[in-house]
Amino acid sequence: MKKDYILPSLSDARKRNKELSAKLSFSLDEKYRGLGEGKTYYIVTHGCQANQRDSETMAGLLDAMGYKMAEEEKDADIILINTCAVRQGAEEKVLGEIGALKRYKKENPDMIIGIGGCMAQEEKTVNLIMEKYRQVDIIFGTHNITSLPKLIYDVLSDKKRKVEVFSKMGEIIESVPVTRFMSHKAWVNIMYGCDKFCSYCIVPYTRGKERSRDKDDIIAEVEELVRQGYKEVCLLGQNVNAYGKDLHIDYTFGNLLADVAKTNIPRIRFMTSHPWDFDDTMIEAIKNNKNIMPYIHLPIQSGNSEILRKMNRRYSREEYLALFDKLKRELPGFSFTTDIIVGFPNESDEAFEDTLSAVKHCEYDNAFTFIYSKREGTPAAAMEDAIDQKTKEERLQRLNELVAFYANKNNQRFKDQVVEVLVDGLSKRNAKVYSGYTPENKLVNFTGEGVKTGDIVKVKITQVMSFSLNGELVEE
Ligand code: SAH
Ligand code: SF4
Ligand code: F3S
Repeated sequence: MKKDYILPSLSDARKRNKELSAKLSFSLDEKYRGLGEGKTYYIVTHGCQANQRDSETMAGLLDAMGYKMAEEEKDADIILINTCAVRQGAEEKVLGEIGALKRYKKENPDMIIGIGGCMAQEEKTVNLIMEKYRQVDIIFGTHNITSLPKLIYDVLSDKKRKVEVFSKMGEIIESVPVTRFMSHKAWVNIMYGCDKFCSYCIVPYTRGKERSRDKDDIIAEVEELVRQGYKEVCLLGQNVNAYGKDLHIDYTFGNLLADVAKTNIPRIRFMTSHPWDFDDTMIEAIKNNKNIMPYIHLPIQSGNSEILRKMNRRYSREEYLALFDKLKRELPGFSFTTDIIVGFPNESDEAFEDTLSAVKHCEYDNAFTFIYSKREGTPAAAMEDAIDQKTKEERLQRLNELVAFYANKNNQRFKDQVVEVLVDGLSKRNAKVYSGYTPENKLVNFTGEGVKTGDIVKVKITQVMSFSLNGELVEE
């Protein structure tokens, strides 16, 4: 059957040029305003912080159309699922979820279901949804978020399913409405896309080329957040230290950090810094500004140089460890976390031992650990792999035990200390307990009274666990 929509293509999405990315300014067409009066939406978000921020854009667009956020998914007139394609497990979860939406649609045939995010960029997913998941009305890609109002309008007009997924390199769109989900911490995109092409990773295909926002737009956004009373910003990019390179200007991430620090927002974080290009201007900016938080996430992925080469990570074990040691020396008291993949194609026992020894060397505060997941369309998917799943699972377990050991060891430094906590709210587990994070990004659960979300309070740590701290509010 002839398709009346254009399939995305991961191989087109691989293309890159050196041209400056176009910068556009969004404005909502008047005909979409008021379309959502009296109706509600619900957004489910998977994946990384980039997706969290994209969901806030989707919410902003829907709010501008007059829709309101629904309390419960089942009651919503529109359900959007913002998906992640980074590992097979993430994809399976989403497909299960879409399957479950069928029953809502039965009860409410007018409900609109939209699938966005990184999975939408894959032709296999679009094909699968179009063939097997009839309940889905809209598939929209990561480059097509601002088309949501139009897509919703069109579905409401002709009741036909819509697919809009561009596989292009991408542009920068400013002035898009946003409804932030938190009132004290904000995600701020500083750049989009990724040009690193680590051989296992789908992100450069689903997010397009590396493109930086104008520094003035970023700083203006942070200044506005300060006016609104925000306490923390997290500057987002797949590799924040590549900031500015695509603009061909003499202004780096270190410069941006220093300028964002001048807004006097109480807390600044950033995610993710690739070890590549972690330069001295960054270290200087971090050292000189107390509102840049003492926490660095520095993904290692593997501790073996041969595997790192096959991963196309652009650094060797020795180079990573040298950078890590330098940061540790220059930034005392900082906490450090990492990402690690076990079971990359044909990772030998010796190579895995190198990863363990790197963890022993770095003594990370925490690590996000994953079993390698084959991503169709990436170079690693074509590599031979004789390592069985059970071995990979055993490795993951051994690694996690080591990670927990050092996490616990690092947390001991906070025992009986008074720490500053930015309060997120009541703890999910215990209604009388508040939770929040220290500057070092340690999760603290504490008892106290008269505390509000967004307060920065002093807490005395009474108990130390591997992945969180317990304490009591210190009255001032
Ligand atoms: N840009 C970030 C990472 C984004 S993806 C960086 O380079 O640090 C988050 C993490 O998911 C990666 O650091 C990696 O550890 C993991 N990951 C990515 N692709 C994966 C795959 N195919 N299988 C298993 N883990 C993967
Ligand atoms: Fe993926 Fe590597 Fe880009 Fe991170 S730097 S998003 S791991 S390709
Ligand atoms: Fe997932 Fe896409 Fe982020 S694949 S990790 S949601 S960039």
